[in-house]
Amino acid sequence: MTFFEWDQSYSVGIKIIDAQHKKLFKLIDDLYVATNNIHGGKAESIENIILDLAAYVEFHFGTEEKYFKEFKYDKTESHTEEHHFYERKIADFKNRYEKGEDVGEEMMLFLKQWLSEHIKIKDKEYSKCFSEHGLV
Ligand SMILES: [Fe+2]
Ligand SMILES: [Fe+2]
Repeated sequence: MTFFEWDQSYSVGIKIIDAQHKKLFKLIDDLYVATNNIHGGKAESIENIILDLAAYVEFHFGTEEKYFKEFKYDKTESHTEEHHFYERKIADFKNRYEKGEDVGEEMMLFLKQWLSEHIKIKDKEYSKCFSEHGLV
């Protein structure tokens, strides 16, 4: 069973963005698999996946924010604030994990829930603006 799977209901109608969201879902899903194998000696890979996820989240948010700037998107500020919140939360989970805290379930649920809502509400709001500027 897949913990976090992209489906059409998450589509923002912009190819490059959907592709990046799919990759994020995959990383969160990988993290879920790794955290559930934690007692099987996979602890090291969890840290690597968190690092990969943090890096890819930053890259993805950077892509959206680049287009916000380019297209003078009117909700840039509130949207970017949400991005910063998620980045801070990931950094926080990473720190807690490194200190030996068992953040597994709380982290997985947060990562999944926040991203689902963010895509379905905030990201979908820019679809019209992006497509009007020629992104398909
Ligand atoms: Fe996004
Ligand atoms: Fe976003």
